[in-house]
Amino acid sequence: MTAADKLIIALDLPAVADAEKIIDSLGNDGVFYKIGYQLLSIGGIDLAARLGTAGKKIFLDFKFHDIGATVERGVKSACRLGGDFLTVHAEPDVLKGAVAGRGDNPRLKILAVTVLTSLDQTALTRTGITTPLADLVLKRAEFAAEAGADGVVASAREAAAIKARFGDALEIVTPGVRPAGANADDQKRIVTPADAIHAGADFLVVGRPIINAPDPAAAARMIAAEIDGAG
Ligand code: C5P
Repeated sequence: MTAADKLIIALDLPAVADAEKIIDSLGNDGVFYKIGYQLLSIGGIDLAARLGTAGKKIFLDFKFHDIGATVERGVKSACRLGGDFLTVHAEPDVLKGAVAGRGDNPRLKILAVTVLTSLDQTALTRTGITTPLADLVLKRAEFAAEAGADGVVASAREAAAIKARFGDALEIVTPGVRPAGANADDQKRIVTPADAIHAGADFLVVGRPIINAPDPAAAARMIAAEIDGAG
């Protein structure tokens, strides 16, 4: 796997046309794309299909969270999109439903969202969760492993502990990545690309530092070079 294969570019854009502009400008520097809520209901599904035809890898960041049976049916339908990664929240029933819905699809990997990288301990406490954040991430990673999911979405700050406990049983996909000096935006648990790889992240998700850059391809290449140097 090359460094560019490990860089997932989040297409958090207001219209498919904007996403296509970024995709065009990235060319071969964009290998793996994440489609989430913002494009989902305005053409993101068709865009995913087009990206698949163009040989790109696709991360469907749908973050399903419902009763197990509904998640199972939702994931079964999502399998038809031909994606590579699909997210669900890390609760035992949700994960069991997702793994059952994926069935024997050889391509789609189920990723469990542990704790959003925009949350810190204070924000968690406000929601009534008093478990230390690092422990909660590990607990949710354990749910993922027990259910037979393929990986987790977690901040690089927790990646080392997840790798130590689960080894290669769980792929670690890490958002909240910012090259040194970049704007943190609303992310709280940020790390640099090199630090994320050193911590054990298998894939990095980067949105705004690439899609808002004056030259997205140059920004992607810079991050890929940092991944390469860290590998
Ligand atoms: O622009 P930025 O690099 O912060 O984008 C990160 C992307 O990763 C966003 O699309 C966000 O929804 C997603 N994400 C995240 N934290 C998670 C899961 C997904 O930031 N735990």
